[in-house]
Amino acid sequence: MGELMQGFKRSAYCGEIDESMIGSNVTVMGWVNRRRVFSCFSFILLRDRTGIVQAVVDSSVNSEEILKKDKEIRSEYVVAVKGTVRARTDENINPNMKTGKVEIAVEDLKILSESETTPFPIEESVNVNTELRLKYRYLDLRRKNVAENIITRHKVSQCVRNFLSNEGFIEIETPMLTKSTPEGARDYLVPSRVHPGNFYALPQSPQLFKQLLMISGFDKYFQIAKCFRDEDLRADRQPEFTQIDMELSFVEAEDVMSVNERLLQKVFKEIKGIDIKIPFERMSYKEAMERFGSDKPDVRFGMELKNITDIVKDSGFKVFQDAIDAGGSVRGISAEGCASMPRKKIDSLVETAKTYGAKGLAWISVLEDGLKTTLSKFFDDDKLNKIISAFDAKPGDLILICADKNSVVYDALGALRIELAKRLELIKDDDYRFLWVTEFPLLEWSEEENRYIAKHHPFTSPMDEDLDILDSDPLNVRAKAYDVILNGCELGGGSIRIHSSHIQSKIFELLGFNEEEAHERFGFLLEAFKFGAPPHGGLAFGLDRLVMLLTSAESIRDVIAFPKVKDASCILTDAPNVVDKKQIDELGISVVCDIN
Ligand code: AMO
Ligand code: AMP
Repeated sequence: MGELMQGFKRSAYCGEIDESMIGSNVTVMGWVNRRRVFSCFSFILLRDRTGIVQAVVDSSVNSEEILKKDKEIRSEYVVAVKGTVRARTDENINPNMKTGKVEIAVEDLKILSESETTPFPIEESVNVNTELRLKYRYLDLRRKNVAENIITRHKVSQCVRNFLSNEGFIEIETPMLTKSTPEGARDYLVPSRVHPGNFYALPQSPQLFKQLLMISGFDKYFQIAKCFRDEDLRADRQPEFTQIDMELSFVEAEDVMSVNERLLQKVFKEIKGIDIKIPFERMSYKEAMERFGSDKPDVRFGMELKNITDIVKDSGFKVFQDAIDAGGSVRGISAEGCASMPRKKIDSLVETAKTYGAKGLAWISVLEDGLKTTLSKFFDDDKLNKIISAFDAKPGDLILICADKNSVVYDALGALRIELAKRLELIKDDDYRFLWVTEFPLLEWSEEENRYIAKHHPFTSPMDEDLDILDSDPLNVRAKAYDVILNGCELGGGSIRIHSSHIQSKIFELLGFNEEEAHERFGFLLEAFKFGAPPHGGLAFGLDRLVMLLTSAESIRDVIAFPKVKDASCILTDAPNVVDKKQIDELGISVVCDIN
């Protein structure tokens, strides 16, 4: 036996010790959760990733040497315990502990490693501030609830791998040091030493490589792939995240959706024991926006948007008329039972709407004895009643109305709908409503860049029905794209791709790349299309988001072992950091900003 383990060999995990093992000799190893002394006994709660078990040192039985070691033990020491499993006496049974009916009578004890006092107690229930947790993430990960999320993540990956392998998918790794792939975010760049002044980009997704693999004939590919996007962080976004990425040849959109429905069904069954019904509901982008003001609608509750443009037009109310004349619309939602919401709370809803670009909100309180509304000066009773019937509003309801260009109206009302549902507790946590949103617009106009940009990415195929309006009416061209939404969260998205170099060149042209630029950036793909590209399509899930939903985690950080914080830094390692001048010089680059 080696010195390292001091002659001990682990025979069981702490959390596995149970009544079936009574009478047997076991060796467990782990961290001391707590040590307590009571009369002639010392109780050591020993923890490993499976749970906690109680070991008992008895000063009337154990040797002086063991008693001496026992006294040295502090919380978080790493200890090996050899002993016999025995039943606890009735009064000592702990029903809150998985191993609460048994304990280990210590026969030998070794301290394998000591520990200083930890910056926070290693306990599930203790509230620790995020910075401290992340600075000592390796200690945070000792806590049961935090560790459980990481273990669930492992199970999800494993389940996905098994499912896709059984379906005939081949797992292939694609490069991390590569050329910029446009997914709409900024790239993380890596300078090349060998090619001074040249940069690799870390992949925003394996998109181009998986398409090339289809041209190679791999037919069904998948990868659990790290992706990098330099974009603003949110509760469901990290700069470095993981996709379950796949691509299939000789398929239509329905085939891709179908295999992914079965994949999600398997994951939910295996991880949560929940049977989810397939096929999922499908909804066009247009319908999702008109009914829910969002392309990732939470359909667990109603409060749908209503369009009242036709009722209020030509009424002379300038705010509404200006919006309508500018090509916008007037829409609203009705919040059931909110008619007597205090003015302050309504004002806070108006503030929410303003953060989405709305200039204001009009509202109507439908009371038993009449209406209270910001619109009384502008609309007579007849018009107001028409508005109320459009919403099917009853006494007790509050109607909130927004007039603006469509994108603002949708964003503001979509957000209000969610906020109100939370306030009114309309959302059931254990309800899983999956949805495919389809027929996304192929392009959108970017004010910032003064050109069309791809809504999904430039390799997404237009719908066949809309090919003839590509030139005349590009903004109304729909794409063969689909997103899978769960409870208002975009779990994944994909599309059927363009597989003809002719259409691909045409799309690049619409996106404002001239032939030379297109060739410079994506020449290798256009070239590949010349050698027999099969029709193909695929999809990528955000693995982190999927695990977040499966574990009901509030932040994406809770399902990543070593996450980054809001400013994309890592508190544990202090990355990113300033590097040696020598390293910079070697790379042939210079730092121009003031780094102090
Ligand atoms: P898309 O850009 O929609 O598509 O990304 C797919 C899924 O990845 C997740 N995701 C993220 N998760 C955490 N942090 C982020 N910063 C982040 N960005 C995206 C989301 C999203 O639905 N190549 C295409 C897929 C394809 O067409 O096959 C792509 O990357 O859950
Ligand atoms: P005003 O003419 O600005 O005093 O606005 C009259 C009413 O219309 C007020 O109740 C405003 O809150 C409301 N209002 C202002 N802008 C909008 C808008 N974009 N959409 C809906 N209502 C608005």
